[in-house]
Amino acid sequence: AKNTTSLVTKCEIGESLEEFLTKATTDKALIRLMMCMGEALRTIAFKVRTASCGGTACVNSFGDEQLAVDLLANKLLFEALTYSHFCKYACSEEIPELQDMGGPAEGGFSVAFDPLDGSSIVDTNFTVGTIFGVWPGDKLTGVTGRDQVAAAMGIFGPRTTYVLALKDIPGTHEFLLLDEGKWQHVKDTYEIGEGKMFSPGNLRATFDNPEYDKLINYYVREKYTLRYTGGMVPDVNQIIVKEKGIFTNVASPSAKAKLRLLFEVAPLGFLIEKAGGYSSDGQKSVLDKVIENLDDRTQVAYGSKNEIIRFEETLYGSS
Ligand code: AHG
Ligand code: MN
Ligand code: MN
Ligand code: MN
Repeated sequence: AKNTTSLVTKCEIGESLEEFLTKATTDKALIRLMMCMGEALRTIAFKVRTASCGGTACVNSFGDEQLAVDLLANKLLFEALTYSHFCKYACSEEIPELQDMGGPAEGGFSVAFDPLDGSSIVDTNFTVGTIFGVWPGDKLTGVTGRDQVAAAMGIFGPRTTYVLALKDIPGTHEFLLLDEGKWQHVKDTYEIGEGKMFSPGNLRATFDNPEYDKLINYYVREKYTLRYTGGMVPDVNQIIVKEKGIFTNVASPSAKAKLRLLFEVAPLGFLIEKAGGYSSDGQKSVLDKVIENLDDRTQVAYGSKNEIIRFEETLYGSS
C-alpha cells in the first residue's frame, strides 16, 4: 500500500483560549480568572512529569495521604487565584477552609478546587487532573452547583487539555496545550448520546448494596465496554469526548461515599450538564444539592439521559 503518512503533527488550527473567552462572555473578571487558572494548569502539567510521587507524611481532613504533588499543585492554584485579583475566597481538598484571597466579593468570585485528582495513580503514570468550580461573590456554602458561573478540569495525560464550561454559553469546550504554551480550542460538546460504555467506581459497594450490584450486572449482561481508570477526571472526560457512557460512584453501608460535592462532584456535574449530559446522586441532579459544609461527600453518576434514568430507577425505583 502507498505510504500516506504525513508530517502534520498538530490538531487543526482553532482559536486561542483568550479569543474564545472574549467572545463567550463580557465578564472581564471571569476571563482573567480563567486565564490565570490556565497558567497554573500549564505549570502543574510540567511539574507532574518529574515531581516526586512520594508522600509527605501528612493526611488531609478527608483522611487522604497528601503527596508532594498534591501540595505543589495546591500551592500553584492558590497563587494563581491571588494573582487573578478577582478571587474573594478559595478552598481546596487539601485546605477545606475558606481562605481570603483578597479579591472583591462584588464582581469577584469564590473558587473551590481539587488540585490533583487521582494522586494515588501518579506513580502508575495514569492520567490525573485538576478540578475547579467558580461561584459568584463570597459564598461556597448555602449554594448549589447550579449557581456556578464556570467550572473546568485540567487533564494531564499524553495530551494536556483544559476543559471548561461557562454559565453564559452552551456546551463544554476543550483546549489543547500546544508546545509553545498556548491553549488551542479543539472541541465542543453539546450532546451526550446513548452508547454502551461504563465506568463503575467504588465497586466494593456492590458487596452490601444489592441495587448497585444489580446495575453492574445489567451492564455486564448487556455487554457494555468497561472503561475505568480510577481517576475521576479522565473517567468523566471520556463521557464528554466520546459523547456517550456512564460513570458511577455509589455508596453502601461498608463503603461510604468518598467523592466531595464541592471540590469534585459539583464542578464535574456542571461540565457534564453543559455538555448535554445528566447527573444524579440517585435521586436528583448533583447541581441541585445544597452545599451545606465545605467537606460534604456524595454518591454520584454522570452520563446520558437514559443512563441516568436507569441509574435512578435501579437504585431507588419501586420495582
Ligand atoms: P483524590 O486523588 O483527589 O483524593 O481523589 C481520587 C478519587 C477519584 O478520582 C476516583 O474516582 C476515586 O478517588 C477512586 O477511589 P478508590 O480508588 O478509593 O476507589
Ligand atoms: Mn486526595
Ligand atoms: Mn479527587
Ligand atoms: Mn485530590
